Amino acid sequence: MTATATAAGTFKIGGDLEVTRLGFGAMRIVGKEIWGEPEDRDEALRVLRRLPELGVDFIDTADSYGPFVSEDLIREALHPYDGIVVATKAGLTRQGPGRWAPLGRPEYLRMCVQMSLRRLGVERIDLYQLHRIDEKVDRDEQFAVFKAFQDEGLVRHIGLSEVTVEEIEAARRWFEVTTVQNRYNLVDRGSEEVLDYCEREGIGFIPWFPLAAGDLAKPGGAAAEIAAAHGASTGQVALAWLLQRSPVMLPIPGTGSVAHLEENVAAAQLTLTADEAARLDAAGA
Ligand SMILES: NC(=O)c1ccc[n+]([C@@H]2O[C@H](COP(=O)([O-])OP(=O)(O)OC[C@H]3O[C@@H](n4cnc5c(N)ncnc54)[C@H](OP(=O)(O)O)[C@@H]3O)[C@@H](O)[C@H]2O)c1
Repeated sequence: MTATATAAGTFKIGGDLEVTRLGFGAMRIVGKEIWGEPEDRDEALRVLRRLPELGVDFIDTADSYGPFVSEDLIREALHPYDGIVVATKAGLTRQGPGRWAPLGRPEYLRMCVQMSLRRLGVERIDLYQLHRIDEKVDRDEQFAVFKAFQDEGLVRHIGLSEVTVEEIEAARRWFEVTTVQNRYNLVDRGSEEVLDYCEREGIGFIPWFPLAAGDLAKPGGAAAEIAAAHGASTGQVALAWLLQRSPVMLPIPGTGSVAHLEENVAAAQLTLTADEAARLDAAGA
């Protein structure tokens, strides 16, 4: 029997939008350097259609993935979604393969929300995330327009990405911050303080680049040894460690391959011992 994500348990975004804690990142179903159509479009659609079969009901995307390609594929594969939460983002623009620039002018963000609604084919976006705070624009203007989207019923919950505790608190003066998406993994603990704050405040923490294990995955490394002991991969150990690290953790590993997806989802069933978790805590800190 194929392993599902269910063993990861659930988290209620904003206290009322329940998702299985092991989600899917839809940045890797597009072309190289997150630009254009995927090399294998049929496989990208198969990955998306496999998600509900594997119990994954939380998908993270952004208008800038492709750009637009990721949202279009999600709609083609899964509309009308039937219990799947699609979280998207605005605030990063694309100038070519691998090139990203923040743009937080309110009239641009307003165009983004309208276009994501149209592309996803929904009347309201379940979770809308400000991809980056644009330092060239007053941050309160960016928060105010997100608050307006919520007041107008265009978005249900609001999240932030790549932010500090001070920035979360500034945004909370405008709206309830329900999720924070920062880079965090076994070997990148730069957002530890933000994670602890989210846990205290009941805010979902979405760690991006969750599969990274760096040197810990090399022969003799903690992740490699623990993986061998469980007959697992180091990526599965990285995901299991995240899930055990905090009840507000919502990892979104991404892939363009069904085989990799199935492997990643199976990490929900991997339980690390307290000693193993402590060893990983220390090794990557
Ligand atoms: N908020 C932000 O600023 C931000 C930034 C980056 C990403 N994100 C989000 O976070 C999600 C995850 O981040 P990420 O894609 O950077 O990191 P990730 O999920 O940790 O790693 C993805 C990479 O690992 C490979 N991979 C996945 N599963 C594998 C497996 N079982 N075996 C071997 N290789 C595997 C993928 O290639 P294959 O396709 O070949 O499997 C891909 O190159 C993204 O999809 C996106 O939704 C957000």
